[in-house]
Amino acid sequence: MPADRVHVIGAGVMGTGIAHDLAQNGHPVVLIDQNEAILSASRERIHELCRMERFLANPNAGDPEETLGRIGTTTEAAALGDAVWLIEAVTEDWGVKQDVYREADRRCPPECIFISNTSAMPITQLAAFTGRPDRVVGVHFMNPVARIHAVEVIPGEQTSAETVTRTLALLAGLGKAGIPIKDSPGFVSNRLLMGMINEAVRLVEEGVAGPQTIDRVCRECFGHKMGPLETADLIGLDTIAQTLAVLETQVSAERYKPCAPLSERVAEGRLGRKSGEGFCPCGG
Ligand code: NAI
Repeated sequence: MPADRVHVIGAGVMGTGIAHDLAQNGHPVVLIDQNEAILSASRERIHELCRMERFLANPNAGDPEETLGRIGTTTEAAALGDAVWLIEAVTEDWGVKQDVYREADRRCPPECIFISNTSAMPITQLAAFTGRPDRVVGVHFMNPVARIHAVEVIPGEQTSAETVTRTLALLAGLGKAGIPIKDSPGFVSNRLLMGMINEAVRLVEEGVAGPQTIDRVCRECFGHKMGPLETADLIGLDTIAQTLAVLETQVSAERYKPCAPLSERVAEGRLGRKSGEGFCPCGG
């Protein structure tokens, strides 16, 4: 059976990683974003990711040209007209997501399943932008997508059991286990991670320790693979600030208000790896 075609909307950090992982597992992919420059940067990044997976001896890593050959890119929303699956990985902003869901709902066939990669937005609220809330589900892919073999799977209040079953099967084909999580802002992962990153930035601000020392404590004392500040650089400080903003309004203004140095860095365009300057040397 040929693997299903998957449309991915948003070709930033996550959409790029998701498209790459789908294609290296045999799925034809249609990757959609707002302009050709973003799509061209995404293709270049996918080429790098293919080479990295080969270097790391991933048995699924095929020839980079073959993997890229499965990925079509477009700026045309009309491409959604024959979508079977739509994975949404656009900016973590209510206005942006609302427009994307409304348009996708108008253009995609009614049976198409919408998967949201949101970091923190409740799936029930995103599903309400569509007329198909039974076919909207959250899947929290993590970065780097091809390297992380578990994802949170979040059904909204109206998501059907069939949507969840089919989504788990799609994920199993990518070698990913789905961990079911109740719909709630930030799910489990980002309630924990965003609080930790925000507090780590505060420790830097208060002069308690520098970024490398904080990361070292988490790696060497806790046994974490990465510290919170190198993780923040990898995710993108803009996405961290946007995710905290969702948690601030939906969970607790006191616990999740993005701390000042984080907001300042975002305002200055110092966004971590994506801009070449972050908290850690590896962020550059
Ligand atoms: P990003 O900022 O790298 O990429 C977002 C992309 O969405 C951009 O390329 C932008 O041009 C595109 N976009 C915005 N409006 C659009 C529209 N109307 N049509 C088509 N494309 C549009 O953000 P990133 O990091 O890829 O995040 C995407 C989603 O995934 C967000 O919801 C984020 O919270 C979530 N996420 C991010 C993770 C990370 O490590 N960066 C991890 C897990 C989830």
